[in-house]
Amino acid sequence: YSVYWGLLKYLGLKPVTCSQTIETGFQPSEECIEKAFDEGIKAVLLASPDNPTSRVIDKKIAKLLIDLAVEKNVWIIYDEAYKHIVYEGEHVWIQKFSGASEVVISVNSFSKDIAIPGFRLGYLYGPKEVVFHATKLKGYLSITSPVPSQLFALVALRNGIKERYLKEVLPIYKSRRDAAYEAFRKYLPEAKVWKPNASMYLFPDMSPYLEKLRMDDITFTYKLAESKAVVMLPGSIFGKEGKNHLRVTFVTQEEKRLVRGIELLSEFVEELERK
Ligand SMILES: Cc1ncc(COP(=O)(O)O)c(C=O)c1O
Repeated sequence: YSVYWGLLKYLGLKPVTCSQTIETGFQPSEECIEKAFDEGIKAVLLASPDNPTSRVIDKKIAKLLIDLAVEKNVWIIYDEAYKHIVYEGEHVWIQKFSGASEVVISVNSFSKDIAIPGFRLGYLYGPKEVVFHATKLKGYLSITSPVPSQLFALVALRNGIKERYLKEVLPIYKSRRDAAYEAFRKYLPEAKVWKPNASMYLFPDMSPYLEKLRMDDITFTYKLAESKAVVMLPGSIFGKEGKNHLRVTFVTQEEKRLVRGIELLSEFVEELERK
């Protein structure tokens, strides 16, 4: 998730990354994880379901992370912002693995479950000492979360609104995911696109097109927005493996508009190729 890069830099922390590519369904490798622990990392940041790749972490990899974290006394910061946005399979509750309650700090959001990103409301759970210090830190940073937002979330939680909302929107998101995926296959057959089981994004690799055009993904997305009013995020803002990828949100637009946006994207590529 792109925001973490800036935060790590701001805090003067040195990130060690495990590559996640489309070839392996965006799963990090066991070897890379073991090597990072051997190098003496202090914490692991794991998002599942993920943004921008939408992948759900493999249970075997999650178990390895917990086992190593318990053995080496390393924190696992588990970003579960999309835990309820799952279409096939299920969210991986790493908190259930043996020893996890000592090392896992779960960070959560209301932005996705009940679609209130503007309300700026989230929550955290984990070991008592962590919650104690996090509460102090929150106080220093912004005193409190907005009270109207808290009241809204309380009502949504108490009256079953969250469950009803998710029940209604998940089939819609799923059908939009399928439509967007099929549109990529149809209009941009050379792009490598992966159909995720969760979250809100397709993350196609556009290398065959962008290499021909000799254009980077950041320039491309700016030009696409200016020329066709189609907005997608450039993959490189999510890290070096995101180069030449696009992050396509499939939940916010109706299928027709979504498909039309992808068609416009392909028309734009063709126009650039002709130039
Ligand atoms: C993986 C992930 N974590 C956290 C967030 C942030 O959520 P919030 O809106 O609560 O800041 C996002 C938002 O897009 C996200 O994708």
